[in-house]
Amino acid sequence: MPRLPVRTRTLPHKYEITIGRGTLRDVGQVARDCLGERSQRLALISNRKVFSLYGRTVMEVLQAQNFSVSSWLIDEGESQKSLRTLASALQFLTDTGLQRSDGVVALGGGVVGDLAGFAAAVYLRGVPLIQVPTTLLAQVDSSVGGKTGVNLAAGKNLVGSFHQPQAVVVDLETLTTLPKRELTAGLCECVKQGAVGSRKLFKQTNDFLLESRSPANLTSPQLEQLIAAHCAFKAAIVSGDERESLVRTDRRSRKILNFGHTIAHALETVTSYRKFRHGEAVGHGMLVAAELSKNLGLLAQSELELLREAIERCGPLPFAGDLDEGELIKAIAHDKKRAAGRLQWILLERIGRPRILDGGDVSPALLRRSLRAAFKKRK
Ligand SMILES: NC(=O)c1ccc[n+]([C@@H]2O[C@H](COP(=O)([O-])OP(=O)(O)OC[C@H]3O[C@@H](n4cnc5c(N)ncnc54)[C@H](O)[C@@H]3O)[C@@H](O)[C@H]2O)c1
Ligand SMILES: [Zn+2]
Repeated sequence: MPRLPVRTRTLPHKYEITIGRGTLRDVGQVARDCLGERSQRLALISNRKVFSLYGRTVMEVLQAQNFSVSSWLIDEGESQKSLRTLASALQFLTDTGLQRSDGVVALGGGVVGDLAGFAAAVYLRGVPLIQVPTTLLAQVDSSVGGKTGVNLAAGKNLVGSFHQPQAVVVDLETLTTLPKRELTAGLCECVKQGAVGSRKLFKQTNDFLLESRSPANLTSPQLEQLIAAHCAFKAAIVSGDERESLVRTDRRSRKILNFGHTIAHALETVTSYRKFRHGEAVGHGMLVAAELSKNLGLLAQSELELLREAIERCGPLPFAGDLDEGELIKAIAHDKKRAAGRLQWILLERIGRPRILDGGDVSPALLRRSLRAAFKKRK
């Protein structure tokens, strides 16, 4: 079972990502190892659906380590990443009498992880957090890296904090109950990490997609290696740029992880988060960014095709060609305002070689052309 040590600036020691099949049963031992004997209470935050599937197992193994465990469950959906839910989460932590030596366990997808992580970050100015991600997206992306937060009416993730977990436990078995679209979404984020990470990671991801076909073969022995490779990549980028420095534009800046995300956020906004799963929107967003890269003379057509094929292998994406281009461009401009007038495009020079383009250079006409080409219906 791979155990991946991760170095951070904020924790005095490395933390570990445990990856394997059936690792939910190890959560108790992991929690005891990283919190120590002084720790008495754990506050488990999950959602109803995930808790009904895996809550009992996790509660049992935590109790077996003599933790007094209380649970609190949120409803489904992105709308739960709100200040209102945060206030309830903090009330829950107060009610359990959680001390600074105790901990929060986040059991669920990225929504649970971001909300519970943020509650852990701000309660008593920070209590230990253990992430137990149960979606592929959360396993390869959101649970690693320490970004936590909630949304405001004005936009996603506008309030948040960097709070590194003390441990992450990834159980591949939990993916067997994941709806197909959620798998597609997670696989799109894997393709993204490969596209900006290295040709090796891209190839490993593509080989897995080729071999396992749609829907992805969750029993494949390659899956564990793939998830471990993605966690290692994400952890490496994060430890080199933990707080996403504003001024960095080099190829190892944390910003490269936002490849495809400018368009993805616009797609999510104009459809009020109803049409696309986040990772699906990233699938489209990467294609637009690749078309832009090609139109700017940076990326060869053959590289763009490699990326397109990999995205198609993740599974079907909801059609985006019927959306109003003007609205999308407006949503992109809004993002730009929030970033103090400078939109940084994450582009590609080739697979595995990102380029951060700082401001300017992308005209609305070029953007329109790229949107059209990316969203065109294909046979
Ligand atoms: N913090 C970060 O660095 C970071 C990175 C990427 C994304 N995110 C955030 O992550 C969120 C998206 O996360 P997500 O895609 O995991 O969505 P999600 O948390 O909404 O989970 C998706 C759905 O899958 C269900 N589910 C979860 N695990 C399951 C399982 N094992 N079996 C069956 N159903 C299961 C959930 O109930 C939900 O309906 C967004 O809010 C995004 O902003 C954060
Ligand atoms: Zn994403």
